[in-house]
Amino acid sequence: MRFSLSLLLPLLPLLLPTPALSQSTVDCDNADLTSYLLQLIDALYANGLTTFESLLADITSTDSGYDLLSTIFTQSDQTFTLLVPTDSAFQMAAVWAPFEHQSKDYLVDLFGLHTLQGHYGYNELPEAGMGVGRSMMRKREWEERVVMKRGERGMVVVKTAYGEVSSWSGPADISAQYLLDNLVILPIDHVLQAPPNISTALTLPSTTRSPNGLPLLQAAIANVSASGADALTEIKPGGLTFFAPVDDAWGKDAWAQVADKTLRAKLIGNHYTTNYSLFSPDWTSGTITDLTIMNGDKLKLSVEGDTSYVSLGDQKAQILRSDITLENGVLHIIDRVLVVPQSEKPNPFIQTLANSPTQAAKPSGSAPMPSSTGGASRLTGTKWSAVAAVAAWYLSGL
Ligand SMILES: *[C@@H]1O[C@H](CO)[C@@H](O)[C@H](O)[C@H]1NC(C)=O
Ligand SMILES: *[C@@H]1O[C@H](CO)[C@@H](O)[C@H](O)[C@H]1NC(C)=O
Ligand SMILES: *[C@@H]1O[C@H](CO)[C@@H](O)[C@H](O)[C@H]1NC(C)=O
Repeated sequence: MRFSLSLLLPLLPLLLPTPALSQSTVDCDNADLTSYLLQLIDALYANGLTTFESLLADITSTDSGYDLLSTIFTQSDQTFTLLVPTDSAFQMAAVWAPFEHQSKDYLVDLFGLHTLQGHYGYNELPEAGMGVGRSMMRKREWEERVVMKRGERGMVVVKTAYGEVSSWSGPADISAQYLLDNLVILPIDHVLQAPPNISTALTLPSTTRSPNGLPLLQAAIANVSASGADALTEIKPGGLTFFAPVDDAWGKDAWAQVADKTLRAKLIGNHYTTNYSLFSPDWTSGTITDLTIMNGDKLKLSVEGDTSYVSLGDQKAQILRSDITLENGVLHIIDRVLVVPQSEKPNPFIQTLANSPTQAAKPSGSAPMPSSTGGASRLTGTKWSAVAAVAAWYLSGL
């Protein structure tokens, strides 16, 4: 049996248990969905979450909003967590009913971003480290992720590129609304912002060692690609994983490789893949500890105590902050630049070596050579001329 909205509305005072009737009405021609949404509206209202309540009512008037809400309703076997900003959180974000300054698309995205697939309360999160939820906000085929960890006193802390958001110390009581058994409502103290693209993320403060973002990494990327980090913002179904060195990690050896047009792309390429988004729960649980980067090499992820590391060959960087969500993936901040290993370099300095073998171990502007590549003293005269000839050939091709 289908009720039309106009038939249903006069019944509302009878259906709702509290004398304080919420102001919202929903635009919906499916009776079961309508009952569900009215209980949700009532639950929000009863918990003083009236701006989100109005947001929900507002998006029922759009196709995409209707689809989103009916998906939540029809997937009764799945749990959803609604991270619901309080009214004062919405005020701080300058978002209030009747939402005259926001587009419908923005409002649907906003609702979707705050709706997580799965149950993410304090007890569902790991004791240490992060939990990663998929939201119902989509950028093309990519579902935006939300990263959370346990806070104090039973709170959930949402970690975003823009800062931390805290929940109440437990979910809102919705036990009176018997239809809502696939929902958990967790009020939060800020409105979540959609994750930034990587260009924007590199400008935001991310750790105490990167209070102004990562300008040196930006410059290095700009040196490889004229469009800078924008080249990495294209959404890929697999998502982007980027290990981003802090500014104080850029030593002479790293800059020497940026200045070298045969090495700079490989240097930047050592830090990311566009094939897969690797969040810390994948490696802390041991599910995935290798990540193939764009040139086919593998990064190795490891955990020692509370600290995570990413290694390329014998270079080991500490992960200073993990899991900064991007609109198409994730950024992890590291304390070291993963340079192109000496053994793989085309060798402009071999000429220098050839000319002055005694300085072989310390080519200027470069790190000491790993012993595995061999010091000049181990090379015979014949080999030297061969190497010098190859180097000359290589250089002539530049
Ligand atoms: C990245 O995000 C910023 C801020 O929203 C925007 O101005 C910029 O155009 C975006 N870049 C790309 C390549 O989409
Ligand atoms: C790249 O780096 C080199 C050497 O530091 C510099 O001369 C050049 O101007 C840079 N190019 C860009 C596009 O930043
Ligand atoms: C990325 O995915 C494509 C398509 O699945 C695959 O051919 C390629 O080898 C992958 N590259 C890396 C670095 O994993």
